[in-house]
Amino acid sequence: MSSPSFTSSIYVFLLALLFQIAMGVDPLFHFCSTSENFTAKSSYETNLNKLIGDLYFKTPLTGFGLDSVGQYHDQVYGISLCRGDVSSTECKACVAEAGSETRKRCPDNKSAIIWYDNCLLKYSNNDFFGKIDEQNRFYMWNLRNVSDPESFNLKTRELLSQLSKNAYGNQKMYAAGESKLADSEKLYGLVQCTRDLSSGNCKKCLDDAISELPSCCDGKEGGRVVGGSCYIRYEIYPFVKA
Ligand SMILES: *[C@@H]1O[C@H](CO)[C@@H](O)[C@H](O)[C@H]1NC(C)=O
Ligand SMILES: *[C@@H]1O[C@H](CO)[C@@H](O)[C@H](O)[C@H]1NC(C)=O
Ligand SMILES: *[C@@H]1O[C@H](CO)[C@@H](O)[C@H](O)[C@H]1NC(C)=O
Repeated sequence: MSSPSFTSSIYVFLLALLFQIAMGVDPLFHFCSTSENFTAKSSYETNLNKLIGDLYFKTPLTGFGLDSVGQYHDQVYGISLCRGDVSSTECKACVAEAGSETRKRCPDNKSAIIWYDNCLLKYSNNDFFGKIDEQNRFYMWNLRNVSDPESFNLKTRELLSQLSKNAYGNQKMYAAGESKLADSEKLYGLVQCTRDLSSGNCKKCLDDAISELPSCCDGKEGGRVVGGSCYIRYEIYPFVKA
């Protein structure tokens, strides 16, 4: 029971946990734009720093923040979105981390986006509000294959399409739920749009994401299509907070 290897693996796990708490959680992914730079101490930088501060204050209130700071060529636009099931405390911590990480990872890029499990943060010198982000996208999947991919893929699409309907119809543009698989197993899903989108654009964004599932997640036990305006996720274990 308490063999040395068991004890030491617990120890390593605890260390890893402590380290993660101390250092913050790693982002899932990020992109820095390659088109335009700004210089240190410029008005753009001042505006960007103010924007990130504003998002930090606004986002935890409702789970979504949108702001724009400055004028003309120094104007910066930004949003941040917390996953629909996270508390405002977790939301606040995530947006704080996202703001400081993007500034570290993309120190002089005018536009950047970063994703975590609990939130995303995006800013740009271009007004992107209300537009579907078709540039920034990545996939994640579970390496394990299901035994019956055809019916599993169908059930995944059904669940996510149903959730998508719920999401674009409600103000939070978020929905999570589950459906039954064979053998008392369940499928769990989550979909969400950034709330600068119209309901019609949220629908389109989610439809597009669902249609991309075959490119990443065909017959996989879990998968995500994650973009700058919406994302979808499914798993065969519960991952949504109550
Ligand atoms: C932006 O800055 C990087 C290095 O900081 C440089 O390599 C790149 O050429 C610059 N790009 C533009 C468009 O100025
Ligand atoms: C922006 O980010 C890219 C990719 O990380 C980097 O290669 C580039 O030099 C950066 N340039 C700017 C600051 O445009
Ligand atoms: C899942 O299936 C793919 C393609 O059929 C295969 O390449 C891969 O090794 C399988 N993965 C596992 C974990 O069995």
